[in-house]
Amino acid sequence: MDAIVLLKDDHKTVEKLFKEFEKAGEQAYKKKQELVGQMIKELTTHAYIEEEIFYPAARESVPATSSHVLESVEEHHVVVWMLSELSGMDPKDERFDAKVTVLMENVRHHVKEEEEEWFPQVREAMGRKSLQEIGERMEKAKSEAPQDPLALSSADK
Ligand SMILES: [Fe+2]
Ligand SMILES: [Fe+2]
Repeated sequence: MDAIVLLKDDHKTVEKLFKEFEKAGEQAYKKKQELVGQMIKELTTHAYIEEEIFYPAARESVPATSSHVLESVEEHHVVVWMLSELSGMDPKDERFDAKVTVLMENVRHHVKEEEEEWFPQVREAMGRKSLQEIGERMEKAKSEAPQDPLALSSADK
């Protein structure tokens, strides 16, 4: 599996959860809590394979995009702390929907930058063979991802 295709598939999975959340009714507390649980799982796993495998590999082969990688890690930092707050939060809390909305804005912005500005440069510099090799490593690493978003390296300051 090509690394960039794999990451874009993950982005789509998350976007589907976001759309479902947006469609869920104001009072659909159980549904919204379930969706947030899935967001936490998907985003933590995705951030883990990016931080442990893709970002370092991309940074090494395209040093010109180092600042982009560093900015991406800061964006992950904000997202993982929000995920951690949401994981213990009552969906009836008046801040719940607002927090999920800001989480979605952050993730959508981040995904857009990755896909539109950065991945094309990485693809060109790395070529198909290395992207496939990295994709395979990421696929395997998914099962090693932590459940706690704060266990990710981007959670540290
Ligand atoms: Fe990312
Ligand atoms: Fe991503």
